[in-house]
Amino acid sequence: MDRYVVFGNPIGHSKSPMIHRLFAEQTGEQLDYSTSLAPLDDFSDFAKAFFVEGRGANVTVPFKEDAYRLADSLTARAQRAGAVNTLSKLADGTLLGDNTDGAGLVRDLTVNAGFSLTGKRILVLGAGGAVRGALEPLLAEQPASLIIANRTVEKAELLAQLFADLGPVSASGFDWLQEPVDLIINATSASLSGDVPPIAGSLVEPGRTVCYDMMYGKEPTSFCCWAREQGAAVAMDGLGMLAEQAAEAFFLWRGVRPDTAPVLAELRRQLAA
Ligand code: ATR
Repeated sequence: MDRYVVFGNPIGHSKSPMIHRLFAEQTGEQLDYSTSLAPLDDFSDFAKAFFVEGRGANVTVPFKEDAYRLADSLTARAQRAGAVNTLSKLADGTLLGDNTDGAGLVRDLTVNAGFSLTGKRILVLGAGGAVRGALEPLLAEQPASLIIANRTVEKAELLAQLFADLGPVSASGFDWLQEPVDLIINATSASLSGDVPPIAGSLVEPGRTVCYDMMYGKEPTSFCCWAREQGAAVAMDGLGMLAEQAAEAFFLWRGVRPDTAPVLAELRRQLAA
């Protein structure tokens, strides 16, 4: 049976094996997918040993940059992201690196939530790896503007420069902004500690602005709670993005696009249990 893994460290609580098992059942694809605890000091040799037999891998924290360096070729979006979350062994034995995180985010917003990004004013909070992975797919939707706001403004400025050729992207500090936007995406890790980036409530136009947190949890995230308090039209967490980035990877490997809706429902059910 074709073998796939998700590399990470730690990796014990990964939901990817369950997601891909459900995709495989749904599509009738025959594959084996498991977790793989890669060593922090030697990702490259460990991954190469797997790929003697293995067909594909997802890559999570902290190996996405290592996987970027390991890949023999890269998709344009992985090249831009500077990080790889999906490796696929090609027919000639070489490894293709892709990054499906941003596409997963865009698909969750545009397909699952039915929210078109074209012509919209987007504010992205954070300037780490998660933002870098999302910028190319977001800008491809042709928003009116995309502001990257970060605690460390220099990092936002660097990213804005790096993606300036792809669209109207600019950088900001959290407290420089007052005017309402159409979409706020929280890609900081502030929710992990129950914090919300210190942005003005006036950025949310009640009943209109959509708020999206890349984080998710059993309870609504602190950013989603904040968004609801400001009257956001929608406050979504990142569970859909998780399912969609997995579906993009499955499509790359198998050429079949699974239906994420039942899988997302199962993820939501397990999270609540
Ligand atoms: P990831 O790969 O998840 O993006 P990262 O590269 O470590 O992780 O980036 C974390 C992001 O969350 C950064 O933008 C960080 O801001 P700084 O660049 O100023 O460090 C942001 N962040 C983390 N904790 C935060 C907090 N409590 N409030 C606001 N921003 C926070």
